[in-house]
Amino acid sequence: MTPIKYHWITLGPGAVSGLIASGLCDNGESVSVVPRHDRAETIEWQLVRAQEKNNYKASVTQLPIPKNSVFIVAVKAFDVISALQHITALEGFDKSMPIVLSHNGMVELPKALSQLNLHPLVTTHGAVKSTNGIICIEHRGNGRSWLEVRQEESEPWSTLQQAFPPLVLEQNISQRRWLKLIINCVINPLTAIYKCENGKLLEDKWQSQIISLVNEAVAVAETQNVILDANMCHREVLKVAKETALNSSSMLQDIKQQRRTEIDQLTGYLIKTGESAGIATPTHQQLLNEFQKRYA
Ligand code: PAF
Repeated sequence: MTPIKYHWITLGPGAVSGLIASGLCDNGESVSVVPRHDRAETIEWQLVRAQEKNNYKASVTQLPIPKNSVFIVAVKAFDVISALQHITALEGFDKSMPIVLSHNGMVELPKALSQLNLHPLVTTHGAVKSTNGIICIEHRGNGRSWLEVRQEESEPWSTLQQAFPPLVLEQNISQRRWLKLIINCVINPLTAIYKCENGKLLEDKWQSQIISLVNEAVAVAETQNVILDANMCHREVLKVAKETALNSSSMLQDIKQQRRTEIDQLTGYLIKTGESAGIATPTHQQLLNEFQKRYA
C-alpha cells in the first residue's frame, strides 16, 4: 500500500512551530504556512542552532487546503482560541483534520473547538523567535516532546517523530501538561516579578516559596484527577531552572518587551481551578497580587 502523503500546515511560524516546520522541510515533507499578518506568497525563516544557520522557505497555504492536511498550532495561550477559529474558517478545512496543539498554560475551549481532532503537544525544547527583517528561530536547548494520540494511530505521527525528535506518543499526556503547568507557574511569575534569569531560582532563599507553590498546585491537579508527587515536581522545577539557568523565562521576555503575558492562563488558571474545587492557593494568589501590582 502506498503511504499517505501528508501536507503540514503551520501557523506563524512561531518559535516551536518554526522548529517543527524546519524539521519537516529537512525531511522533504510538504509544508506550508498560514501567516497571521503577512501577505507574501512565501515565508522565509532562519534556524540558528549551535553556531549553525540554515535558511528555510515555505509557501503560503493555498486554498482550498489539501485533503490530507495536518496542522501545527503552537501559539501563546491567549491566542489559542483565535488561532483555532482562524484555521477552522479556512476553505477546505475538515473537522477530522489532525491539529497538533502546543501552548503554555491551560485554556478552556468553547465546545465547538474542543470537538476538533486536537492532539496536545508538550515540549521542553527551548526556542526563541525574533523578527528583525527576517524571521529568526534560535534553538537554544534540546528537549523532549510528548504528543497525545489515539491508540490505533501511527500515521502521520511517525513522520513527525522523525522531523521533531525525540517525540513520545502517549494516549494521555495530562500528567505532562500539569507538570509543565506547575513548572511554568513557579518559574515564569517569579522571574518576571524579580526580573531575574531562571537559574537564580536555585538559590536557597526561594525554596520555601517554591515548595508552597508546588504543593498547592499538586493539590489542584489532584482535583482534576492528575496525581503528581510534590517532591518530584519540586525536583523538576529545579532541573528546568538549572538547564535554562542563563535564560530569561518567556514571561520575563514578554514583560521586558511590554507584550501581553500568559499570567491568566498560568497562575490565573490554577487559582480559578482551585477555587472551583475548594482548594486554597494563597501562595499563588500572593504571587498574582504582586505581579498585578507591578504590571497592571
Ligand atoms: O516559558 C518558559 O520560559 C519556559 O517554558 C521555561 C521552561 C520556564 C523555561 O524558561
